[in-house]
Amino acid sequence: MKPLLEIKNITMKFGSLVANEDVSFTIHENEIVSLIGPNGAGKTTLFNCITGFYKPYCGNVIFDGKDITGMAPHKICRLGVTRTFQIVKTLNEMTVKENVMTGAFLHTNNRKKAEEIAEEILDITGLTPKKDVLGANLTIADRKRVEIARALATNPRILMLDECMAGLNQTEIKDVMSLCLKLKEKGLSLLIVEHIMEAIMPISDNIVVLNAGKKITEGPPQEVVNNEEVIKAYLGERYHAKSKKS
Ligand SMILES: Nc1ncnc2c1ncn2[C@@H]1O[C@H](COP(=O)(O)OP(=O)(O)O)[C@@H](O)[C@H]1O
Ligand SMILES: [Mg+2]
Repeated sequence: MKPLLEIKNITMKFGSLVANEDVSFTIHENEIVSLIGPNGAGKTTLFNCITGFYKPYCGNVIFDGKDITGMAPHKICRLGVTRTFQIVKTLNEMTVKENVMTGAFLHTNNRKKAEEIAEEILDITGLTPKKDVLGANLTIADRKRVEIARALATNPRILMLDECMAGLNQTEIKDVMSLCLKLKEKGLSLLIVEHIMEAIMPISDNIVVLNAGKKITEGPPQEVVNNEEVIKAYLGERYHAKSKKS
């Protein structure tokens, strides 16, 4: 099967600092891939390279067979590659529904149509009861959910989530996990950057591990968490021991 997104030999430098070095992997339609690695490994930089916020130093990003390397972010988004930001960008003076509508305006100028799209997304993301709450009055979990909802309103084929579970409690994390699986069921692909292994293990088809800018391995969750290099670079003995015990 042809991949939906191909990351091909991406290298990104900031002066002499190599933030991504020759990183390659693919994501297929209807697949959840997680990207893990220690802080500073280059995960957010790679998101920025894929979504046009940075032009990679070399390498290519191919989406649905089309080379999108270095295209403007809004054009990449319009094609169906949408991301959320590690630092949430909720619009404080707007309601939840209006926040989500800003995503819908990518494909329509019609307010009524944007409202319809937003309402459908609010329903999918469980935000309907909070649709009239101002962005400024939301909890962190709701802000993160709004961020996902706004991204979904752009009608992506691949949704990229950058640490959208950080700072959430167990119940809230479970909610985001269910939402990810629900989106997969609806046919989306997801690329997830996340530190909470207990959350990504059960929902990921594949895990890609970055360390110091380089991909050190990729594979199914169970294989990756038992990989010696991954344990040494990132997981430590904690997760390894725990997953062996259970
Ligand atoms: N805009 C930037 N300018 C200079 N250095 C950057 C910039 N963005 C990230 N870096 C550096 O690139 C490396 C990777 O960062 P980042 O992609 O944010 O890692 P992660 O998301 O995995 O924590 C880090 O050393 C970071 O300091
Ligand atoms: Mg990051």
